[in-house]
Order: sequence, then C-alpha cells, then structure tokens
Amino acid sequence: MNSATNIVWHDTSVSQQDRHQLNNQTSAVLWFTGLSGSGKSTIANAVEKKLFELGKHTYLLDGDNVRHGLNQDLGFSDTDRVENIRRIGEVAKLFVDAGTLTLSAFISPFRQDRDSIRANIEHGQFIEVFVDTPLAVCESRDPKGLYKKARAGAIADFTGITSEYEAPLHPEIQLQTDQFSVEQCADQVVTYLENHGYLKGPSLAL
Ligand code: ADX
Repeated sequence: MNSATNIVWHDTSVSQQDRHQLNNQTSAVLWFTGLSGSGKSTIANAVEKKLFELGKHTYLLDGDNVRHGLNQDLGFSDTDRVENIRRIGEVAKLFVDAGTLTLSAFISPFRQDRDSIRANIEHGQFIEVFVDTPLAVCESRDPKGLYKKARAGAIADFTGITSEYEAPLHPEIQLQTDQFSVEQCADQVVTYLENHGYLKGPSLAL
C-alpha cells in the first residue's frame, strides 16, 4: 500500500546489468526458509563464506540481527511476521538491484508472503532455499532453548508449536540437514549457483 502521492520512479544511469558486468556475477536473493533451529543462518553463513572466497560480492540479511534494528518494532504475531517479511523482501530487492548476491535467513513461515516477494523480483533472481529440517530434529537441537520455553508455554506464537509453518511447495533448492553436513548443504547451494550461471557476468535471460 502506497500512501504517498506524486511519487515518480527514477531510472538510474548505472544499470543492474552494468553492475553484473563489473562484479562478474548475476545477482539474486537466496531466500532461506525453515523452522527456528533448522540451520538457516548457519548454512547461509557457510554459503556466504564460500562465495566470498570465490571473489563474489555478497550480503547476508539475518532474522535475529534485522530484528535488532530495522524491524525492532515488530513481534511474532501473524501480522508482525507478514510485515517483517515484507520489509525484508523490499530490502532484498534493493540489494539484488545493487548487483549483490544476497542471502536472507528468516523463518518466513507463510507461503503467500514468500510468493509475493518472488513476484516482486525479476524472474530467476529469487531462489527459494528450503532448509528442510523436521520439527523433531529442530526441537532436539534447540540451540537457543526456545522450544523448551515454547512447550512450557513461556513463549506465545512459536513457529511449529503454536504458530503455523507452511513449507515451500516448489523450492529451487531443498536441503536435508538431517542427512547432510553444513558443508555439504553449503556446497549444494554454491553448485546450484554455478550450474545456473549466477557466478559469472551477464548470461542469464532475466
Ligand atoms: S519470522 O517468522 O518473522 O520470519 P524471524 O526469522 O524474523 O521470524 O525470527 C525468528 C527468530 O526469532 C528465531 O530464530 C528465534 O530465535 C526468535 N524467536 C523469538 N520468538 C519467536 C517465536 N515466537 N517464533 C519463532 N521464533 C521466535
């Protein structure tokens, strides 16, 4: 919803294609989605490190960090999660336009919100990465002790327990973290980028 009027979109002189050429890469957002404790941040960090070592320009938007700043006014009600993801989607779009290989690690539990972001970004530049870790595995890992608290009723609206998680139906990449190591999952993502032409300059028909 745009509440401002008389706003005109300006095209900039340096195009996204120019940035791709300069950076020798084709920008996109790797949109990691999955339950709390599924491994989104850990794998996204490992992927970013590998891309950095390959000389690629990257940026990682991480749920817990963004909630300390840009989205510190938002909680975990359905309405707040929708707004959380909407804002991150807009930020990710800007980073993609800036020519950056962008990684985002948010639970992003609702299919409709993820699909809206996909629709708002050029075809091929939104790559959904489903970190497919069963709830029981996330709960047994419980790295932040949050599942225990949620089961005890100390945290309301906890994803997978008292709030919905809608798994992607057709993610570009699906990671089985209960069968493969962080390293293997990160390699799977980098291989996808390599095979689909993202790690070189303009070549994709975007
Ligand atoms: S999202 O649902 O809006 O996408 P986001 O990824 O930003 O969530 O934040 C999730 C992180 O917040 C979790 O990894 C966890 O550390 C923390 N958290 C705190 N309360 C909750 C809750 N009720 N449900 C899920 N995660 C929570």
